[in-house]
Amino acid sequence: MSENFDAIILGAGAAGLMCAARAGQRGLRVLVLERAEKPGKKILISGGGRCNFTNIGAGPANYLSANPHFAKSALARYTARDFLDLVESYGIAWHEKTLGQLFCDGSAKQIVDMLLDECAKGDVTVKCGEEIASVEHAGDFAVTTQNGTYSAPKLVIATGGPSIPKMGATGFAYELARQFGLKVVEPRPALVPLTLGGDEVLFREISGVSAPVVAEANKARFPEAALFTHRGLSGPAILQVSSYWRPGDPVTIDFLPGRETDWLLETKRSNPKSTIRSLLREALPDRLADILDEKIALPGDLGNLPDKALRGAEEQLRRWQFRPSGSEGFAKAEVTVGGISTSELSSKTMESMRVPGLFAIGEAVDVTGWLGGYNFQWAWASGMAAGEAL
Ligand code: FDA
Repeated sequence: MSENFDAIILGAGAAGLMCAARAGQRGLRVLVLERAEKPGKKILISGGGRCNFTNIGAGPANYLSANPHFAKSALARYTARDFLDLVESYGIAWHEKTLGQLFCDGSAKQIVDMLLDECAKGDVTVKCGEEIASVEHAGDFAVTTQNGTYSAPKLVIATGGPSIPKMGATGFAYELARQFGLKVVEPRPALVPLTLGGDEVLFREISGVSAPVVAEANKARFPEAALFTHRGLSGPAILQVSSYWRPGDPVTIDFLPGRETDWLLETKRSNPKSTIRSLLREALPDRLADILDEKIALPGDLGNLPDKALRGAEEQLRRWQFRPSGSEGFAKAEVTVGGISTSELSSKTMESMRVPGLFAIGEAVDVTGWLGGYNFQWAWASGMAAGEAL
C-alpha cells in the first residue's frame, strides 16, 4: 500500500521547502521527504549562522551555467525583493553587509522557521529521517523509503549538490537524473579555497594574512579580499574565482588595486630614497609585502633602480600569477558547479522535457551563483517556478 500525494519533493532544503510551500498553498497535497533528521541544515549553518538569504542585485550575470540564459526566467519572476518581502512579512530583522548581501540580524533559524511556517500554511507534510531506497516510474512516481512507499504524479528533485559531504550532501540528484536518462554536466567544487604547491608553498608561511586584491581566473575578475591560508589561498576574491578556475589554470592577482599606474616610477621621482619593500609595506600587510619583495628581488633605493626594472616589478605586482595545485574539494566547497543539465529542463517550470512530471530545482541543477546570497536566491526562484507549475 502506498500513500498518495499530488507531488513529492525530495529534499527539505532551501529550494525544496520553497517549492513545497508554494505548491501546498495552491491547494496541492504535497509530501517532502528529507534524509537528514531535520530540515534546512545548510540554511542553518549558512552565512556564519546568520544566512545571507539573498543578494539585492541578483541577476542572470551572477550565475554560471552551460546555458547562461536558463536562469533568466525564474529569477525575473521571483526576485530578491520578493523574498525580502516575505522575510519582512515575518518581522525578521535584516541588514545589508556589503555588495548587496542581505543577512538576518538574528539567526538563520528564523529563515528555516519561516519556510516551515509557509509549508504549514499549505498543509505540506514534511517527513525527516527518510532514507530513499528506490524511485520507480510507472504512471505515477513511487518513492520507497525504510518507512513505506509514497506515490504521486509529480516528483521534484531538490536534493542539492555534493558539497560538504560531512553534512550528508551526496550526488543523489545526479544518480536519479541519470536513472531517468537526464544529462548531467560534470559537477565540480565551487566557492572553494585553492591550494598552493611547488615554489608557492612559501606563501603558506603568511597564513592568516589578508589583503584587498583583484583576483582573476578565466576572464572572471573579482575585486575583494584574498586570504592566505596554511594550505594556499582563500577569502572572498579567491572563492569567487574558484568557480571559474580549472585544474592547471593560473589565478592572477592584482596586489595594487587602489594605486595609480606607474606608482613605482612616480615614487622613484618623488621619493628616490624609498625601497620597494617600504612602499609595499604602505600598500599591504607587512608579512605579505616582505614576501612579495623577496620574490621581486630588487633591493636598494628606488633612485638607483632602472625605470625598466621598476615597470617590470609593477607589472608583476599587478598580474601576479599563482598556479594552484588544486582545490580543497567538495569537503570545503560551498556549492557545486555543474549538475542536471539545463538542456533537459523547461526554464519556466523546471520540468523535464524528457520525463513529464519530473522536476529539478536548486543546486541540483547546473546553475551556480556567486558568493553573496546568489545561491539561495536561485533556490528560492527555481523552487517557486516549480511550485507554481506542479
Ligand atoms: P540544500 O543542500 O539546501 O538541500 C538539499 C536537501 O536535500 C538537504 O536537506 C539534504 O539533506 C537533502 N537530501 C540530500 N540527499 C537526499 C536523499 N537522498 N534523500 C532525501 N533528502 C536528501 N548560499 C547563499 O546564498 N548564502 C549563504 O550564506 C550561503 N552559505 C553557505 C554556507 C555553507 C557552509 C554552505 C555549504 C553553503 C552555503 N550556501 C550559501 C549555499 C547554499 O546553502 C546552497 O546553494 C543551497 O542550500 C542550495 O539549496 P538546495 O535546496 O538546492 O539544496
